[in-house]
Amino acid sequence: MRQLYPPGPRSLVPGSALISFRLDPIKFLTKLASDYGDIAYFGAGSQHYFFINNPDYIKAVLVTNQASFKKGRGLEQAKRMLGNGLLTSEGEFHHRQRRLAQPAFHRDRIARYAEIITVYADRLQRERWSDDQTVDIANEMTRLTLAIVGKTLFDAETEDDAEQVRQAVSDCMRLFRRYLLPFSELLYRLPLPANRRYREARQRLDAIIYGIIRERRKDPADRGDLLSMLLMAQDEEGDGGHMTDTQLRDEAITIFLAGHETTANALTWTWYLLSQHPDIYERLHAEVDRTLCGRIPTADDFPRLRLVEMALTEAMRLYPPVWVMGRRALHDCEVGGYKIPAGAMLLMSQYVMHHDTRYFPDPLRFDPDRWTPEARATRPQFSYFPFGGGARRCIGEGFAWMEGVLILATIAQKWHLRLEPNQRIEMQPLITLRPKCPIRMKLQRRQPQAAIRGSDLRGG
Ligand code: HEM
Repeated sequence: MRQLYPPGPRSLVPGSALISFRLDPIKFLTKLASDYGDIAYFGAGSQHYFFINNPDYIKAVLVTNQASFKKGRGLEQAKRMLGNGLLTSEGEFHHRQRRLAQPAFHRDRIARYAEIITVYADRLQRERWSDDQTVDIANEMTRLTLAIVGKTLFDAETEDDAEQVRQAVSDCMRLFRRYLLPFSELLYRLPLPANRRYREARQRLDAIIYGIIRERRKDPADRGDLLSMLLMAQDEEGDGGHMTDTQLRDEAITIFLAGHETTANALTWTWYLLSQHPDIYERLHAEVDRTLCGRIPTADDFPRLRLVEMALTEAMRLYPPVWVMGRRALHDCEVGGYKIPAGAMLLMSQYVMHHDTRYFPDPLRFDPDRWTPEARATRPQFSYFPFGGGARRCIGEGFAWMEGVLILATIAQKWHLRLEPNQRIEMQPLITLRPKCPIRMKLQRRQPQAAIRGSDLRGG
C-alpha cells in the first residue's frame, strides 16, 4: 500500500479546491478524473477528500468493504430535513427499519402498483393536457410521481400538494448546499431569510405528512401499503411499542421525497432527450404501438417495452438523478492501493463515471442501444450505478423501473412531446440533478391511426 496521497490539485490558497467543487461540482469532478485518473486527492482544512472514478474501487467502497464506511457528505444536514428515516439512519436502527419497509417493495407488490401508475399517468394526460398546449415537463412529471408515491405507498391523494412540495423541496435543496459549508451550524442558527424559508418549507412538508398519518390513525385498518406496515410494526427488540409519530414522520417523509423527486428527474430528462433524437423517438413510438395496440399498459408489458427501458437507462446514464455520493472512512483502510485515513471522505460521481470513455465511447451521445444485454455484458458492474450499491442500495429501484417505463409508455402512446425553441437547457446539480429552468414542451396529440397502425406492426 502506498503511503502518499494520490495525485490531485495542489494550491497555496487553503480550501480553493472545495470552493471550485462548490461553484461547479460537475466540472470540478470531471476535471479531477481527466487530470488525475482513477483516484484523486484534495484537502480542505483538516478534511481529506478522495475522489474515486474506477468501477472496482466504487464496488469495493459500496459493497465489498462497506463495513469500513458510513454514509457521509451532508448526512447531518439531511437529518435536519428527513430526521432519522431510511436514507439517513445508520447501523442496527437502519437495518431494522429497512427490514420493516422491504415487503412494500417486493416484486409482487410492485406489479400491483403498476395499475395505479398507469391509471394516474392516463388521468394526468386526459384531465390536464390538451393538444398544442405548452407545459413545463419537470412540473408535470413531479406532479405525477408525487401522486403515484402518495397513492401506492400511503394510500393518500397528494396530487394537489404537488406545487407546494416541489417548492418546498427546491427551497430545502438550495439551502442544503449552504449547510455543507464550514460553520454551517452557526449559519443555521442565524436569523437569515434563507433559514426562515428553509424552516417554513420543512413545516409545509410536515403538515402534509402529519395530515396523512393523522387520517390513518383514525382508521388504522391494514390497507396493504407501506404506511400500514409501518403503523403495525412492533419494535420487537425494544420496548414492544408501536412507532412514534416522529419515527413514522421520518420514514414517511423520506420515502415521500426520495420516491418522487428522482423518478421525476429521470423522466424529465428522458422526454428532453427523446425530443432531440427523432429517430429514436420514432422507434420508441413504434415499439409502444406494437406492444400495446392502443390499450393501457400493465405490469406484464414491462419486460416487452425493451426500447423504452433502454431509453430510460440511457437517460439516467447521461443525467443520473443522484449524481454524486459520499462515504466516510470509519478507520484507516485502503482503496486503489492508497491509504485512506479514518475520517476521510470518499466521493463517487455517477455523472463522471457514466461519461467515462473507457466504458461509454462518444459519451455525450444519447444511444439507448448501449443497453442491449450483449453491450451491457462488456462493461464492469459499477461503471453504471444510478441506484448506488450494497446495503444502502436504493430500496425503490424496482419500483422506479416499473414506474418509469410504464409512465413513458402510457404517455408516448398518446402524445408527441416537442421541445419549444429558444431555451437553454442546463443542469442544476443540487442533491439531485434537476434542470436549472423549466423545460417547456409542446404537447401534440398523436393521430389515432398511430395506435391502429400498432396492430399492423404487431410482430414486425
Ligand atoms: C430513478 C429513480 C431513483 C434513483 C436514481 C434513486 C437513487 C438512489 C440512490 C443512488 C440511493 C443510495 C444513496 C446512497 O447510498 O448514498 C437511493 C437510496 C434510497 N432510495 Fe432511491 N432512487 C430512485 C427512486 C426511488 C424510489 C421510487 C423510492 C421509494 C419509493 C426510493 C427510495 C429510496 C430510499 C428509502 C433510499 C435509502 C435506502 C437505504 O439507505 O436503505 N428511491 N436511491
